Amino acid sequence: MIEAVKDSTALFDVVSPATGRVVASVPDQGVSEARACADRAAAAFIAWRAETAFARSALLRKWFDAILADRDNIARLIASEMGKAVSEARGEVTYAASFVEWYAEEAKRVYGETVPSQFAHKRLMVMHQPVGPVYAITPWNFPAGMVTRKVAPALAAGCTVILKPAEESPLTALRLAELWRQAGGPADVLQLLTTSDPVSVTRVFMADARIRKVAFTGSTAVGARLYAESAPGMKRISLELGGHAPFIVFDDAELDGAVREVIATKFRNSGQTCVCANRIFVHERVHDAFVTKLVAVVEKLRVGDPLDEATQIGPLVNAAALAKVRGHVSDALAGGAKVATGGSAKEGLWFTPTVLTGVRAGMQIMREETFGPVAPVISFSDETAVIAAANDVEFGLAAYIWTADLSRAFRVTEALDYGIVGVNDGLPATAQAPFGGMKMSGLGREGGKWGLDEYLEVKYVSIALQK
Ligand code: SIN
Repeated sequence: MIEAVKDSTALFDVVSPATGRVVASVPDQGVSEARACADRAAAAFIAWRAETAFARSALLRKWFDAILADRDNIARLIASEMGKAVSEARGEVTYAASFVEWYAEEAKRVYGETVPSQFAHKRLMVMHQPVGPVYAITPWNFPAGMVTRKVAPALAAGCTVILKPAEESPLTALRLAELWRQAGGPADVLQLLTTSDPVSVTRVFMADARIRKVAFTGSTAVGARLYAESAPGMKRISLELGGHAPFIVFDDAELDGAVREVIATKFRNSGQTCVCANRIFVHERVHDAFVTKLVAVVEKLRVGDPLDEATQIGPLVNAAALAKVRGHVSDALAGGAKVATGGSAKEGLWFTPTVLTGVRAGMQIMREETFGPVAPVISFSDETAVIAAANDVEFGLAAYIWTADLSRAFRVTEALDYGIVGVNDGLPATAQAPFGGMKMSGLGREGGKWGLDEYLEVKYVSIALQK
């Protein structure tokens, strides 16, 4: 049973996209609870920043152990509240825990520096200090991973955190916060605020000068608004926004491997990730062979109940998501694309895993994130032209290339305007590496030492020795 964090009497329902039934009801917190959260976060920051890095590290390590011990339970929560296949959700929990483990270790490595001075009597040093209380907003598509990717570095740095999970998936976040407290973590250091009115609640934190940092994963439209709202208070902000990943398969490619990695990046979470391949460019010499192989694998993907261990493709998160996928497919078909497999919705919120061929520039699917299990294939003949086409979107999060030619791998990687490039690798994200995008895909990085820097201020100290 999920324990509510606050005594708010209003509740809102969390509904399973698979069954349409209410999974749980959670506190519907508003402006007054948000203000109280900010007060507590500011008060708790004083003690939390003063803890030793070793004490913070030890607590994070206990949280990591607790998350892993609860992995099956959390995976079922994820599957129930947002429809990710439970076997994949288990992988997400492991991924989520890996951020906690990594930052438990990194907490002890927030080193300072000394800088040479031109004056014999001066000693110059640089120290890193926590930026302050953080407001973190996380999305429904990774209810565990996007929480720990923000919260773990923030806590490691000495910040306190107020976490607002997506309305669609608060149960996983509630469980993670509960495990934090069970591991001995102070309640006011990590507070959870569940709400069906994110706009009003967010306004409270944006206007509060004590909140020094905002971390957000979600749409570019909301990210841009938060960026503007953070300006008057000069808040630090990191934004992990939309993507429109190209996957370029060159004619020297080993096709079975290319198909395997396209499946891995395109169909994970039923196509609902910011780094899912959205445009699959395939060299004309291998196009037909690639499509035949891709279709054969896509047709074997098991579509079904997310709580069934055998399921690979669960439902989409809600009716709006399904309508968007449908819209992209019909727009492509109207423009001359062909269905190689799939192409239609099933009963409920499922969309059949789909491969489209004959996709061309100008179609909606080539510009907007589909966020669904649809693989659009585009034929190309020239390396320079395909790089230009790959870069010809407003986003710059992840890109993938498949080639056996090392020189081409470097050449193309360097020319792609993307924050992440997977070379023969459809799943590059990992706790110790920087995750984030260029252009309209956002600001800042999560993961690795870059993710920790987002929560640290640089303080320069000049000491003049007295005779
Ligand atoms: C995302 O879709 O934003 C997260 C994907 C990942 O961490 O692999």
